[in-house]
Formats: sequence, C-alpha cells, structure tokens
Amino acid sequence: MNILMIGSGGREHALIRKLLESPKCTKLYCAPGNGGISRDAETVNIGVMDKEAMVKFAKENAIDLAFVAPDDPLAAGMVDAFEEAGIRAFGPNANAAIIEASKVFSKNLMKKYNIPTAKYEVFDNADKAIEYVKSENTAPVVVKADGLALGKGVIIAQTIDEAVSAIKSIMEDRQFGDSGNNIVIEEFLTGPEVSVLAFTDGKCVKPMVSSKDHKRAYDNDEGLNTGGMGTISPNPYYTDEIADVCMETIFKPTIEAMNKEGRPFKGCLYFGLMITPNGPKVIEYNARFGDPEAQVVLPRLKTDLVDICEAVIDEKLADIDIEWYDGAAACVVMASGGYPVSYKKGIEMFGLDDNGQVEGATVYHAGTKYENGKFYTSGGRVLGVTARAETLDEALEKAYSAVDKIKFEGAHFRHDIGKTK
Ligand code: AMP
Ligand code: GLY
Repeated sequence: MNILMIGSGGREHALIRKLLESPKCTKLYCAPGNGGISRDAETVNIGVMDKEAMVKFAKENAIDLAFVAPDDPLAAGMVDAFEEAGIRAFGPNANAAIIEASKVFSKNLMKKYNIPTAKYEVFDNADKAIEYVKSENTAPVVVKADGLALGKGVIIAQTIDEAVSAIKSIMEDRQFGDSGNNIVIEEFLTGPEVSVLAFTDGKCVKPMVSSKDHKRAYDNDEGLNTGGMGTISPNPYYTDEIADVCMETIFKPTIEAMNKEGRPFKGCLYFGLMITPNGPKVIEYNARFGDPEAQVVLPRLKTDLVDICEAVIDEKLADIDIEWYDGAAACVVMASGGYPVSYKKGIEMFGLDDNGQVEGATVYHAGTKYENGKFYTSGGRVLGVTARAETLDEALEKAYSAVDKIKFEGAHFRHDIGKTK
C-alpha cells in the first residue's frame, strides 16, 4: 500500500514508525514531515491545510490510505476532501472533528447526553461573562476559548481578577481571533489527569492503553502550559475499575451521542479525563492522537496499525482484536530554550546518528531539519525520546540516559517525567 501521513510532529513520527512495521506498507510519504521523518519516509512539501494540493498528490501517487493526524486539517474537512476524491482516509469528518474544534459544542453534547464533565456556562459577550464570574465569586475558575488555539485557549484563573483579564484578552483583545468569539466558563475540578485514546469506527469503541501527559514547562509542574513535555504509559491512576466506569459512563455514551447528532465519529478519539473525588469526568475531547501521548501508546501496540485503520474505515473494528505489549513506555520531550514562549531555530544538534537516533531508545522527531547529514532544531518541541521496558522505572531510565547523549544549545527538558501527579 502507498500511505500518506499528514502532519509534521513527534506524533506523526511515532505513527510513521508503527506503519513501517506493517508488511502492507510498501511506500510511505509524509506531508510536510520534518528532518527525522525524512529518514523514514519520503517527505512532501505540502502544507497541512492545503486540501487541494494534498488530494492532487494522493491521486498522482496512487495513495491507498491517507492518515490525517493534526487537529486543524481535520476540522477543516481534509478527510472529507479525500473521501470526495475516492481516497480512503483515516480520521473523522469535519462534522465530527467539531468535538475538539468547538468547546461549546462538546460541552453542550455532554450536558445533553449526561456525560460527566465540569459544570459550565457559555458566553458570547465579555460583559455578561464578567458579571457571571463576579456574581459566582468562586476561584479558581476556568476560562476557555471556544475554538482551536494551539493548546493555549484554557486559562485556570486563580482569582476573580485573573478571570476578568482572561475574558477581556480573549473576547476584547481577541487573543485567539475568532476562536474566542464564544467562551466557556467552567467549574475548577481536581484530581489526577488521564489521557485515553480510543479507536472507533462510529459503532464500537476500543480504548488504547492509558497514558499521562506532563503539560507544564518545568519540573514540579511549574511554568507555563505547553503542548506536552513528556508522557508515560500506562497511567498509574487509571485502574481497571476506573476503566470500566469510563467505558459505561463516558466512552460508549460519547460514541452514541455523536451518532444521535448525525455526526458519527471515525478515527482516534482522545478522552482527556480527570479522576475527581466524584468519579471520572471529561476535561476535553480531541479528534486525533495526542502529542506526546502517541509517542508512548503506539510503541506498545502489537497489532498491525494498517489493519486497524482499515477496520475503522470499513466500520469493522468489532472484528479485530487489538493487542498491546505489557510493561511501560516513557517519553521525555527535549525542547528549545525559551519554549513555550520564544526560542531560536536552526541550532545544530549533536549526538544523533544519521537516522536521527541514539542507542537504547527511539527518538521521535518533532521540530528538526536535516541538511547535509546534520540535524538542526526547527521548532519549540524538538525531540521525544522514548523507551519501552518491563517497568516504568526502567523505561524512564532508558529514556533519560538516551536524553543525556543528545546535545543542542539551550536544550531543556523535564527531569521528573513519571514522577508527578
Ligand atoms: P486543555 O487545553 O483543554 O487540555 O486544558 C489544559 C489543561 O487545563 C488540562 O489538561 C487541565 O489540566 C486544565 N483544565 C482544563 N479544564 C479544567 C477544569 N475544569 N478544572 C481543572 N483543570 C482544568
Ligand atoms: N498532549 C495533549 C494534546 O495532544 O492535546
């Protein structure tokens, strides 16, 4: 099969590595990819939002399967565009990707179908929102931009004043543009967070092994929120008992709710959960694999990913058994100095072999460039250094000793992945 991966991050590199294990995959392209990906697949210089060029490329190169990994092209209907051209594609249609692209949609869906989530109100007007947080007078309180905002649209306001300035910057200063035309104001929940990715063909839902993301930039959960600084799998807080509760109260009801709304979801649905004292609740949905969750979940996948993609597309997911490796996986993200605010690009990297790898781990490239036999940084999150082992401690040890072999000016990473709540 000729397969086309769409995207350019560590998640896409992890997907590519898994697809390459399939005997069915004979030719793999990635658009646009990155330096590390270029060592594993043929990279194609097409932007992730360019539907027309993507479909044209797929037709000209007899693509049998297109895999749309990032949120923006999914929300913009990339899968619909492939389908209209007769090309098989993995990922939800735009009318289902809205479960991530609009928080107002997802909150209203959960309310309508009794899926446990934080209490909330929706506002299209800053004054009314401000009046509401002042009258409720409880803090912390959570302010969320409705639309996609590069993972930055959620503000945990510690005081009412902070909530007021968050509302103003989203709705009046339009910090996230049209994504902030509406906002959700939400109850602050507490408890450990769990990421559960699930394959679904719109009929049945098969959760993958659980994982845990570390979103803050620095050790001890200090610093700003990032796209994710590291992950582990499994998540120690996700017991079998909690998994059963999630299946009955969250996973199945969500799939059914989307069907009832006439928006069947096919692809990978990501449940961002919080295990609160009142049981598991949904913090957010994503319409795609998480990044860097994919980097620890996929290495544990035993079953052929191409078979799973085909079963999802053909709505035959119930017919296949999905198997996982026991043990654990850990991913440590190496980021550019200054990330997530501002950082330099184009810094030469040392310690990687010609395939961008080091011994003892798998290095998923997120923001790198490959030129004349050398790797250079080209983004905020640069690498996801990942290892799998019998135990979490061993996986962490392997990942961190690989991290120690890689050098680039300004590199920073967390030293406590797998150690914090
Ligand atoms: P998101 O961008 O939706 O993943 O949210 C970013 C992070 O904000 C989540 O991972 C949580 O840690 C936190 N968060 C979001 N909503 C809430 C909430 N209602 N209560 C507490 N924390 C929250
Ligand atoms: N790691 C969180 C996300 O992919 O949204």
